[in-house]
Amino acid sequence: MRHLIDFGDLTRQEWDDLYARADKIIDHPEQYLDVCKGKVMASLFYEPSTRTNFSFQTAMLRLGGTVFGFADPRSSSVAKGETLKDTIKMVSSYADVIVMRTPWEGAAKAASLYSEVPVINAGDGGHMHPTQTTADLTTITRLRGTVDGLSVGLCGDLKNGRTVHSLIKALAKFKDIRFFLIAPRDLAIPDYLRQFMRDNHMPFVEVTGLEPVIPQLDVLYMTRIQRERFVDPLEYERNKGIYVLTRSKLSRARENLLVMHPLPRVDEITVDVDDDPRAVYFQQARFGMFARMSLLSDLANQPRKIPGPVEIGHGPICHHPNCITQTEHYLPPLVKINGGVPCCGFCDTPLDQE
Ligand code: CP
Repeated sequence: MRHLIDFGDLTRQEWDDLYARADKIIDHPEQYLDVCKGKVMASLFYEPSTRTNFSFQTAMLRLGGTVFGFADPRSSSVAKGETLKDTIKMVSSYADVIVMRTPWEGAAKAASLYSEVPVINAGDGGHMHPTQTTADLTTITRLRGTVDGLSVGLCGDLKNGRTVHSLIKALAKFKDIRFFLIAPRDLAIPDYLRQFMRDNHMPFVEVTGLEPVIPQLDVLYMTRIQRERFVDPLEYERNKGIYVLTRSKLSRARENLLVMHPLPRVDEITVDVDDDPRAVYFQQARFGMFARMSLLSDLANQPRKIPGPVEIGHGPICHHPNCITQTEHYLPPLVKINGGVPCCGFCDTPLDQE
């Protein structure tokens, strides 16, 4: 692995190795104090974050490395109109690894084309959030012993929820998982992911009601309705507050259910659930720090590599309003095939749906 842009970039073996190291770090953090000594992590957060930003920073500090960067792009030359390419060329000449979060889908992929050092996608718009997935899988594996064979409910904004998109990509690498996709019709998973699940023989049902399926679940992964991703504010108003998990709704759930949430939550889990032993979302956030320590101990120690020349593009290659190619017109016209359909190589939007 050179960059982590999409969980699909990892093989199952790479994930198993990453988890095995995270598991050891959780039990023996004192053995990893110098693993990144002398290494520097750039933390480029173009969008708000609590968990991802702070857990990456603390992960690097706990490994003996150091951190620089911004949590508000207005404090950098981005505010003067600097392109993503130029920012990345500069930052990658200063740092050993780059962690970046942006509102633009495909931005981490774009950055990886120009970076001398590994780029880690810490969330690109409503597209992907692979390091959240490392937190999620670590949580399930530590607490249940296995990911295989579970019934997993994914609930909320499955259209815009990047954590769900990455988790689906990851769970394709495991066996015998049954999926309940719980979302209003407006916020169902994107077509390319539905096709991905079919192509990978991942059995799923799509339902709009949460309560009827709760008793069947081993994992309930709640997500918030992602207000900042809605182009139409009325669509947000129609869907906000649609799912609320309460303690009384958990009365019919399995004793060993894991209630997970990438956080932040708004109103989709009431605070009285927090004290239920099945609620593991705060533990999940802490496991995320250890999973990121495991990831950084590999990627921050990779040799520097000058990227080859990149074809110059001349405008957006897809019409997704949040695709990185909408603003960075020099990006090459990358196309990938998802389930036989040509898609934008940055944001995965099918090109034939424009
Ligand atoms: N789960 C997650 O990505 O949280 P933050 O937005 O606070 O980083």
